[in-house]
Amino acid sequence: MSDLGLRNITFAMDEVPFIWNPANPSFSLLMNQITFFVVGFEKYMCRVMRDAEQVITDPEVMEEAKAFRRQEAIHAQKHLQHARALIARYPALQGTFDQVLRDYDDLYKRESLAYHLAYAGGLEAMFTPFFKMILDHRAVLFEEGDINVASLFLWHFCEEIEHRSSAFMVYNHVVGSHWFRLRNIPSFQRHTHGLFDRIKSDFEREVADVPVAAFADDPFSKIPWSAKVRSALGVFLSQAPWHDSVNQPLPAYYAEWMAAWRNGEDVSKIYGTELALR
Ligand SMILES: [Fe+2]
Ligand SMILES: [Fe+2]
Repeated sequence: MSDLGLRNITFAMDEVPFIWNPANPSFSLLMNQITFFVVGFEKYMCRVMRDAEQVITDPEVMEEAKAFRRQEAIHAQKHLQHARALIARYPALQGTFDQVLRDYDDLYKRESLAYHLAYAGGLEAMFTPFFKMILDHRAVLFEEGDINVASLFLWHFCEEIEHRSSAFMVYNHVVGSHWFRLRNIPSFQRHTHGLFDRIKSDFEREVADVPVAAFADDPFSKIPWSAKVRSALGVFLSQAPWHDSVNQPLPAYYAEWMAAWRNGEDVSKIYGTELALR
């Protein structure tokens, strides 16, 4: 039985500023890029899983695929609210948002189910080492940031860790070939990098009233090199044929967040600072 939780949390997104962490503008920008990217990406994941569900024959994999899809659907909804708040401040960013959705529509129509599942399994496997680095260093990345935005991202990253092996499991069941997945890594990396670059250059053009440092600085400048190298190595190894996300080292915060959720704490404001908004 799949033990992925479905947590429909209400985050207060309406008033959030573009630079939601004044102590770390470039990290604020990177997370905003993720929001603009992730709605299209997660909707694509949901379509792909629906298609996969037509051909899955193992009841356990089926249950995992459905639970994974339901989690991703909620992620898309919540980041849509964040994107809307940013678009309300900078209406031209609606075009950026729509373009990402169109891009994923095109990709969905252009490629096969095997390709989509390789994309899903490959990218989702990279998230665990990357988000571990972020969660391990949440103090320098989120603590002085707006509590609503910080809590949205911490929830999402913890759930990404929770379902870290779901897409991989579905890929292995439906497609199975390591070589097909490995062969397509450069293609899906090009696709995601292309979208991230485009979102950033649109921000640069349309969001003029933020510090230049937001576009120029390293968002992870306050994180030790050793942690960055470990994360990069983890991302690289996550694509190896023998890799299994289930066995990866997890950030201690993951268990802490899940315990807070189980204890009924208000996880919509679990971390960060109450900023005076607007
Ligand atoms: Fe997600
Ligand atoms: Fe995910």
